[in-house]
Amino acid sequence: MEKRFENKITVVTGGSKWIGRATALRFASEGSHVIITASRDQEETNKTLDAIRAYGVRASAFPCDVGNEDSVRGFFESIMLDYDHIDNLIHCAGISPNTPLDDQSVDEWTRVLGTNLIGTFLVTKYAGAIMRRDKLPGAMVLISSSNAINSFAPISAHYDASKAGVVILTRDLAKEYAQYNIRVNTVAPGWIDTSMNNTLPEDMRREESAKIYMGRWGKPEEIASVMAFLASDDASYMTGSCIMVDGGYG
Ligand SMILES: NC(=O)c1ccc[n+]([C@@H]2O[C@H](COP(=O)([O-])OP(=O)(O)OC[C@H]3O[C@@H](n4cnc5c(N)ncnc54)[C@H](OP(=O)(O)O)[C@@H]3O)[C@@H](O)[C@H]2O)c1
Repeated sequence: MEKRFENKITVVTGGSKWIGRATALRFASEGSHVIITASRDQEETNKTLDAIRAYGVRASAFPCDVGNEDSVRGFFESIMLDYDHIDNLIHCAGISPNTPLDDQSVDEWTRVLGTNLIGTFLVTKYAGAIMRRDKLPGAMVLISSSNAINSFAPISAHYDASKAGVVILTRDLAKEYAQYNIRVNTVAPGWIDTSMNNTLPEDMRREESAKIYMGRWGKPEEIASVMAFLASDDASYMTGSCIMVDGGYG
């Protein structure tokens, strides 16, 4: 495989599981050292670190709650003790509770927006400060959702709104960071087989599956490859974009 990230340093939030893990491994397989946010499940973190190191690159994990500013600041300070710069930020961490609209509380909305949207602001703010400081070209790849464009269902109104926010935030960040030679893009996945969708009611799962042109759900690796493309020089003239990766839907 071509090694587009030889000796680069890549941070992957949510990197211990599913889409984040597949992305961490994709970057490692292409030669990048990888730092992930530690999962609340230590075993998952350790498994991912071992898998990254099997590619012969460095791997680290530090705790981080992406919705908490002190925690995000501490995460990037920890990274800077062990690594001297950051080339790529890949932001995968997110949550998606499925709750009937009438039962969605302000607390739940605050948690979802805090993690998915404010979390995106926070990780780009602190990674961006380091990346700008070093005046090196770099890339940020964020994660939205096809729900942000198509909507999905009232049970994920807060999630859909948070992910729509990520799409427009991407454009503002792209505008800001272009002067520093840092590109910012977003991937909007459709239905991907991960633990995030475990709570989806079975009838909805069937209805949604029937709408996918390619007749199947996506795999985490099929998102990881687009993340890697967007961070690589193959996407050198792309910034502010949102790419749908959904097998065709509707
Ligand atoms: N799966 C899909 O169909 C789909 C579709 C569109 C978009 N996406 C987006 O893709 C991303 C990854 O989803 P996934 O399906 O791989 O989900 P997942 O298996 O639930 O993984 C989510 C990851 O985010 C981490 N995370 C959650 N809250 C966090 C917080 N406050 N601080 C730091 N890390 C946090 C989790 O950490 P723990 O390990 O501690 O739980 C986990 O590693 C999400 O942003 C999701 O919205 C997924």
